Amino acid sequence: MSGIIFLRSKQLDVITSFYQKKIGMNVWLEQGGCQILQDGNLLLGFCAGEEAETCGVVTFFLPDRQSVDAAWQKHQDIAMAQPAFNPQYQIYHFYARDPEGRKLEFQSFEHHLQPFISATQNLMYRRSIRAFTDEPVDKATLDKVFELCRYSPTANNLQGYYYTVINSKEIVQKIVALRGPAGKPLLAAPLAIAIASRGEKPDRRVQDACIAAYHLLLAAHTYGLGTCWVTDMDKPLVKELLGIPDEDYVACLTPLGWPLETKALPSRHEIQQFVRYVD
Ligand SMILES: Cc1cc2nc3c(=O)[nH]c(=O)nc-3n(C[C@H](O)[C@H](O)[C@H](O)COP(=O)(O)O)c2cc1C
Repeated sequence: MSGIIFLRSKQLDVITSFYQKKIGMNVWLEQGGCQILQDGNLLLGFCAGEEAETCGVVTFFLPDRQSVDAAWQKHQDIAMAQPAFNPQYQIYHFYARDPEGRKLEFQSFEHHLQPFISATQNLMYRRSIRAFTDEPVDKATLDKVFELCRYSPTANNLQGYYYTVINSKEIVQKIVALRGPAGKPLLAAPLAIAIASRGEKPDRRVQDACIAAYHLLLAAHTYGLGTCWVTDMDKPLVKELLGIPDEDYVACLTPLGWPLETKALPSRHEIQQFVRYVD
């Protein structure tokens, strides 16, 4: 199920312009007397009316305290107070007002959340994470990640891919010693996972394993976990350490844990640089 909260507005133009230009929401749908705005998983509809509906609180939540502080810098002119930690709800937040007097809240949660990110956010904001907290990844969360990994596509739906969860720091250290400095992120997290595939055809093994690896990276991100593709792992010694048959293909290893770093969007090519059309 998906949803929209609709609120009546007395000054529809002013309000939609405020939420677009000041807050940064996009127009999701124009319906004449109603405008539906979107940011992440939030759909907020404003409809022209005689009275402005101002009850409740419109809360925007951000990934961390730094983002709340950045929002406060940007919105000091409408903020009601400085950001502060609320121990009861384990949130860091501040309130503001929109031009019609609606109460807005900008906050970050201090605890892990059930998935809430949209597919576009998941694809856009997954980053390679190389610093992690010491907190272990609980089995229930790990199972939810692997539940999503059931739906990785494979050639002929043969499903030859598999994940090897490595708890042993000793084994990870040996693998990092083989890989060199580029393998170091593996030591930073409580867990490492090897992604491999069996299968008769070598190119299909490679394709299935690579897709299953990226599927895991995205599934982990869905639950707020950090990962980093560490390549060059299809090696006899790595396979021996992990009990992976020599004929299987190892796409990569990834650390898995709760991120200790947040990363800004990196610079990327414009679409004209990587999309070709053949007529
Ligand atoms: C095929 C491949 C190999 C990579 N190998 C490594 C690696 O060995 N070690 C590492 O720290 N990061 C590695 N990365 C992560 C890249 O550095 C990272 O994806 C890239 O800088 C873009 O950043 P982003 O993942 O945050 O978007 C690899 C990524 C890919 C896709």
